[in-house]
Amino acid sequence: MEQHAATMHEPARDHPQQGRERLILPPPAGWLGTDNEPDEMALLARLNPKTVMMMGDNPALPKMPERPTLRDFFELRFGAVTQRHLTVSAKRALDEGQSETVVMACLLHDISNGALIRCDHGYWSAQLVAPYVSEEVAWAVQHHQALRYFPDPDAGYAYPASYDMFFGPDFVPPAYLARDAEAARAHKWYKTARAVTLYDTYFFDDFPEVDWADLAGVVERNFRQPAEGLGFDGSPTAHMWRTMIWPNNFL
Ligand SMILES: [Fe+2]
Ligand SMILES: [Fe+2]
Repeated sequence: MEQHAATMHEPARDHPQQGRERLILPPPAGWLGTDNEPDEMALLARLNPKTVMMMGDNPALPKMPERPTLRDFFELRFGAVTQRHLTVSAKRALDEGQSETVVMACLLHDISNGALIRCDHGYWSAQLVAPYVSEEVAWAVQHHQALRYFPDPDAGYAYPASYDMFFGPDFVPPAYLARDAEAARAHKWYKTARAVTLYDTYFFDDFPEVDWADLAGVVERNFRQPAEGLGFDGSPTAHMWRTMIWPNNFL
């Protein structure tokens, strides 16, 4: 009943599924190898005139504006840990007088973990934001992933104690990360990506919650927010932003 009443005020982009039960089939990247494998055949067998496969806005999620901004994704889609991790990383870099390039890279470095995907998060995150930031910011975002595994005492960077906890003390990074980290060390933007790794820690509970207003100026100057909204500007990664708006779409 509530869903039906809401249709009168919902914008045109909504799929007219009100009044029927929306069924969700989670994406394979979210359940392969886990105990959560959905029974696709059983779900499809539940289709009848009162059920549909989810398409469009999921009433269980906060409603996104028609022209979403970067901030909207932070506030309406990203998990609390990623949201805090990214804003605190950026604020610490800002407070320590780092360049806006470094601050922006810190703010975006794990963005794919917010609402998209974790595996190879540096590469996914860089690809996601590349159309909207400088080449250097995207490069630093991509390469922070590989550089996290390799100490650089000259830069004051040690292998993270948290990685021993996450992966076990005997973990060996895969060859492709060793290769990409080595290439990154020889690159002109190495220091930018290395700076991201220096502000990249999950264990700073003593750091106060960050007010977005403190970062708004840097975002304004370093993130080309499309007028049509992220997801609707026809960029090469618009579909990735739409996937975060509608993560439960069947197709
Ligand atoms: Fe990361
Ligand atoms: Fe991080």
